[in-house]
Amino acid sequence: MLSSDSEPNAGERPAAWYNLAADLPEPPPTPLHPSEDRPLQPHDLEPLLPKALIEQEWARTRWIEIPATVLEAYSQWRPTALVRARNLERVLKTPARIYFKDESVSPSGSHKLNTAVPQAYYNRQEGVARLTTETGAGQWGRSLAMTCASFGLSCTVFMVRLSCQQRPRSRAIIERYGATVVPSPSPHTAAGRRALIEDPNCPGSIGMAISDAIETATSCEGTKYAFGSVLNHVMFHQTVIGLETKRQLAGLGERPNVVIGCVGGGSNFAGMASPFVADKLRGEPIRLLAVEPETCPTLTRGAYRYDYADAARLTPRFKMFTLGVDYVPAAIRACGLRYHGMSPLVSLVAKLGIVEALALAEADCLAAARVFADEEGIVPAAESAYAIAAAIAEAQRCRQMGRSECIVFTLSGHGRFETETPGRKPSLCLMEGDRVFSS
Ligand SMILES: Cc1ncc(COP(=O)(O)O)c(C=O)c1O
Repeated sequence: MLSSDSEPNAGERPAAWYNLAADLPEPPPTPLHPSEDRPLQPHDLEPLLPKALIEQEWARTRWIEIPATVLEAYSQWRPTALVRARNLERVLKTPARIYFKDESVSPSGSHKLNTAVPQAYYNRQEGVARLTTETGAGQWGRSLAMTCASFGLSCTVFMVRLSCQQRPRSRAIIERYGATVVPSPSPHTAAGRRALIEDPNCPGSIGMAISDAIETATSCEGTKYAFGSVLNHVMFHQTVIGLETKRQLAGLGERPNVVIGCVGGGSNFAGMASPFVADKLRGEPIRLLAVEPETCPTLTRGAYRYDYADAARLTPRFKMFTLGVDYVPAAIRACGLRYHGMSPLVSLVAKLGIVEALALAEADCLAAARVFADEEGIVPAAESAYAIAAAIAEAQRCRQMGRSECIVFTLSGHGRFETETPGRKPSLCLMEGDRVFSS
């Protein structure tokens, strides 16, 4: 792995990922071993991850060069467009300029492909035959399944039981790529059986699905686990989002006033916001805003302490904002935001006051998503609806205050496969009956 302190020469596509850990005023706290009273060592992660990703997890250099194979794969859909949401601006009667970075155009439909590709690549390099993972919304499962198919790896996806019911199309697509989908909690793992004994109708959670996937990876030959979020290497794989956005804004002569992303485990937000952190620390007036559900208020109501990333306590303990590993979030549609913890890097910048956090109600976010779909013609992922609602609220604030600010948010994914819920009308009627956003 090549890494350096100055950004390798790049054209319109970044040639290196940015590592936020290099620029923080204090070093990220070391994770702790899952069961022993000691700091985690790199070799502790070997049952789970290939060596290249373990090395990245501990990396403190600012730039990590993107391998040529990964760059070539990225070129299929990157750079993604930075779109000015002019129709939305018009309907909101705001003097603000609203831009969205359209990660929904990736072949799998979301930002998750940005990390699926390098993870599959490094695993294949080291001779791994199969990857296991969890999926909440189905977006990560689709991305990893698609990438495993193209890199010749087998893939098993533990899909949160609630999502299996809510998103049958997503499940079908994961299976179409040749991956096996197992509803989580799963009767095939000890962790899943324990959860099902406690509650046979358990809707599952991302934390439970991680346990199922890790237990399977560590007990099967030739198998490793792929993290869809939370870990440092996932955060910096996603920085292609923010690095491209910075270039695109500069090309338009713009400087952002507010940068917004929804947060589940933190990866699309970190990917967009990290490259702006150094600017903010240098004194630029940029607000970085992480948006989460009221029903899973990890950053706004959680405690900053060591906790496990999964329900069965198989992962290392990470210093992060957490609602507690046993927290089972309510069954909202944004399944990908139903996570008790938060990326340690995002948690640290939130604790240091570098980023702000906001918790929003589901009804307001889905109504905002409907306005966005009506005006911009894209059905957003339910997760992205939280970023949209915050962007709309900021634009309304600009209208009230007569301020012409530049607002940028990540459209982390589209919702075209999420709109068919049994018993509900398909497509844009997803939001029917929800409270209409007040403009
Ligand atoms: C479209 C979309 N956006 C956001 C998220 C939240 O994850 P993260 O915070 O890691 O970006 C998910 C998770 O599944 C997702 O599918």
